[in-house]
Amino acid sequence: MRKFYVTTPIYYPSSNPHLGHAYTDVIADVIARFKRKEGFDVFFLTGTDEHGFKIQEHAKGAGKTPRQFVNEMSERFEKLGEALNLSNDDFIRTTDKKRHWPGVELIWKKIEKKGDVYKKKYKGLYCSGCEVFKKEKELVDGKCPDHDKEPELVEEENYFFKLSKYREKIEELIKKEEVKIAPESGKKEILNFLGKGLDDVSVSRSVEKLSWGIPVPGDEKQILYVWLDALSNYISAIGYGRDEENFKKWWPADVHCVGKDILRFHSVIWIGMLLSAGLEVPKNILVHGHITSEGRKMSKTIGNVVDPFEIVKEYGTDAVRYYLLREIPAFGDGDFSEKKFKERYNADLADGLGNLISRTVALAGKHESIKELPGEDIEKKVREIKKEAESFLEKFKFNEALGSAWKLIHFADRYIEEKKPWEKKEESVTVVKNLIYISASLSEMLSPFMPETAERIKKKIQKKEKSPLFPKLK
Ligand code: MSP
Repeated sequence: MRKFYVTTPIYYPSSNPHLGHAYTDVIADVIARFKRKEGFDVFFLTGTDEHGFKIQEHAKGAGKTPRQFVNEMSERFEKLGEALNLSNDDFIRTTDKKRHWPGVELIWKKIEKKGDVYKKKYKGLYCSGCEVFKKEKELVDGKCPDHDKEPELVEEENYFFKLSKYREKIEELIKKEEVKIAPESGKKEILNFLGKGLDDVSVSRSVEKLSWGIPVPGDEKQILYVWLDALSNYISAIGYGRDEENFKKWWPADVHCVGKDILRFHSVIWIGMLLSAGLEVPKNILVHGHITSEGRKMSKTIGNVVDPFEIVKEYGTDAVRYYLLREIPAFGDGDFSEKKFKERYNADLADGLGNLISRTVALAGKHESIKELPGEDIEKKVREIKKEAESFLEKFKFNEALGSAWKLIHFADRYIEEKKPWEKKEESVTVVKNLIYISASLSEMLSPFMPETAERIKKKIQKKEKSPLFPKLK
């Protein structure tokens, strides 16, 4: 059996999960479910990134120890996974000393042994929101544009990683698509970035400044840079440094799903670290855009942060999954608004899919059992549409794959209107047979996107259950 390893980023449990986190989760889940359906042996990993300044500060703000704080907050991200019906096989926490730390320590040792680590006095501007040193020219009015915060001036002696040494090799891997960045615009952005040269990166902080993290192996006075710690989750979780056989089974990753804000870490630092440690590189990096809320960036100050738990509670898991996958273009930014959500829900789920299933059940009710195969023309149409959807999915174009499924729904609606099975009794058996076949095919096509709905469609058809699949919203 061929293996397939897919990951989400590990989330900062510094504040509650929002809809943006749910998006990365859902797209990785669709990939995992689709690959399982295709017969792959899949490992789907997610988790939380629990060290660093940001967490240290938030814990302090909440009046808790970092340990207490991350235990409570990480659970919320696990709960989000449950609310979204994720099929993840594992959940890694970077505070897990047994499972995560050995991998981090081993990769550090390999990089050090390669001669790629050196100590240097350094002065720089650190943004704890990004967990990264910023260049003067990246600031707007002296502030980090992503966090609207002035970075802190840091001056100390740190360990540095010779990232610059790997610039050409990284560039070559990306150009030749040995590390394939999708979409093309992501690839261009990184090649453009690499084209300007690459600096070495500071990969540790003094323990007096930052105590919440993994100590540098062999130097307790320094704590590993949180991104080096975090990126290693992709190998530690599958056994690097503690279970060589399992690690060999799954590595390299087939796809890392990431938001556009963290593409550089994954396609430059991570690749550099792996090259230095003599490890294979991931095959794909899938970059997605950001979700805005009511047309603006989600922010606590604006008060437009969408709580995924609330909307799941109100509208159901699959309706939320559907909206995210359909409304947000796979590679661009997308917006969430309650109004748009309801419109999509009513048009596509209640009137579109739900209505087709109800009509099929109602028509099937008149016939005892229908076991024959569908007509050739119908089978051909379904096959074509399925193929199209699969090819979109292979390219991670989720909204377009769903568009194909809806093509089939519209086709079936037209077919019913044309054939008018309620008028021509002698033809109605054939029509119902075909509609059942279409519904079963829709259930299969939709299963990676809306797993519960797919099951419910099957059941409704079998048991001729009349209740609506998606009751209309007011
Ligand atoms: N901890 C780092 C990742 C380390 S991976 C080795 C991190 N965490 S995060 O919690 O800030 O972000 C996690 C993911 O959520 C990222 O892929 C990010 O792009 C995504 N999103 C955060 N806000 C988002 C939106 N508003 N919209 C869509 N996704 C966004 O970065």
